[in-house]
Amino acid sequence: MQRTAKMASHAASRVCLRSMSSSAAAAPAGSFTAAKPVLNAKYNNLPTHIDPNRPVQDKLLFTPGPLTTSYSVKQALTTDLGSRDVAFQQVIRDVRSGLLDVAGVSAAEYTTVPVQGSGTFAIEATLCSVIDRKKGVLVIANGAYGLRQTAILKAHKIPFVLYECADYEAPDLAKLEQLLQTTAKDVSHVSFVHSETTSGIVNDVHALGALAHRMGKRVIVDAMSSFGAYPIDFKKAHLDYLISSANKCIEGVPGFAFVIARKSSLEEAKGNSSSLALDLYGQCAGLDGNGQFRFTPPTHPLIAFAQALRELKIEGGVDARARRYKANQQTLMKGLARLGFQLYLPAEQQGYIISSYHWPKDKNWNFERFYSALNDKSFVIYPGKVSNADCFRIGHIGRIFPEDTERLVQAIEEVCKEMKTAAFAPPSAKL
Ligand SMILES: Cc1ncc(COP(=O)(O)O)c(C=O)c1O
Repeated sequence: MQRTAKMASHAASRVCLRSMSSSAAAAPAGSFTAAKPVLNAKYNNLPTHIDPNRPVQDKLLFTPGPLTTSYSVKQALTTDLGSRDVAFQQVIRDVRSGLLDVAGVSAAEYTTVPVQGSGTFAIEATLCSVIDRKKGVLVIANGAYGLRQTAILKAHKIPFVLYECADYEAPDLAKLEQLLQTTAKDVSHVSFVHSETTSGIVNDVHALGALAHRMGKRVIVDAMSSFGAYPIDFKKAHLDYLISSANKCIEGVPGFAFVIARKSSLEEAKGNSSSLALDLYGQCAGLDGNGQFRFTPPTHPLIAFAQALRELKIEGGVDARARRYKANQQTLMKGLARLGFQLYLPAEQQGYIISSYHWPKDKNWNFERFYSALNDKSFVIYPGKVSNADCFRIGHIGRIFPEDTERLVQAIEEVCKEMKTAAFAPPSAKL
């Protein structure tokens, strides 16, 4: 009901997306003409997730991904294009160059390599293709996604040194330097996660990258949940490879991930991969050669992603997206603090991608009931993933706005009243 009211309030500002987007003319014929998205005037007339023609709207995904997407991105999925169609090859070119623009790097120095599959596929493609097997890699991990890199390396029998920190702790630069002077002095690469979606902690990509570079190492960063919403200076961080995926902060749909690679570094990976399908150099050479994927391409997700890139531009780029996500996070933080919930991370470590909250210490608390009741009200949250505390997570990314987050807070309050979980004693031992 509330959504219907919101739809009506936006109705006056509806315009055709084609007239909004300067690059829409490059879109495949017939793709986007019927879209009349509801626009959010407060955010540069950014198309919202609302489909004005549907009586019942999608649930809102406050998760780490897949995420809520705009109506117009969803509509772009209705276009069928053959994998060899020149219009599709243009989509591939637009996506590859559009991602370099988002990254703020030049096509002379960097290239984008899309990889079919989820984010993990692109991480595996990078690790199994670029590491010098005689030297290995130093992995910094302060969460499950850092540790997943070590599982990939084990599967490919690639040597590694692990620098593991607690999931609420930033890696220590002095310790990293010491490792690179001793146990890990011979590694060819250093690899780490930027925004650790496990807890929501955001690592200092610039400091870690610069140190690894100063110690003569190539730098790999998993920026899966941050690229497009956190400003990342490739020069300052000395990045050789940045990995992210379609269904995170660019706000596309699942189906592929991508690696933004320094061309001169990727050259070193020629013939080095222990996988055929995930050979990063091979994938890039294929795309550069005839403009096509080597194996069946994710046509629909790529077409939708081209639209998502246009909408990132409409919003005002990475800085504007960062402002909206921060506003989502601030809205949640204020609302849940009022209800007595406690953040898992210390405020200074808390990023604006996803927040982990402690379960309240209350006899009536039941996470499954909480989750299902919110789900019934069309708000999807996520279980916790940290190792030493019972938590739930709420994401701030995707096509959601502070107004949506405000409604989530209201729903949480209602559910807590229904569960009679009103008194939130803060957890005694936090970490
Ligand atoms: C930081 C990070 N790395 C890797 C992944 C794995 O991506 P996927 O689940 O798409 O394979 C995720 C997923 O959320 C992530 O947040």
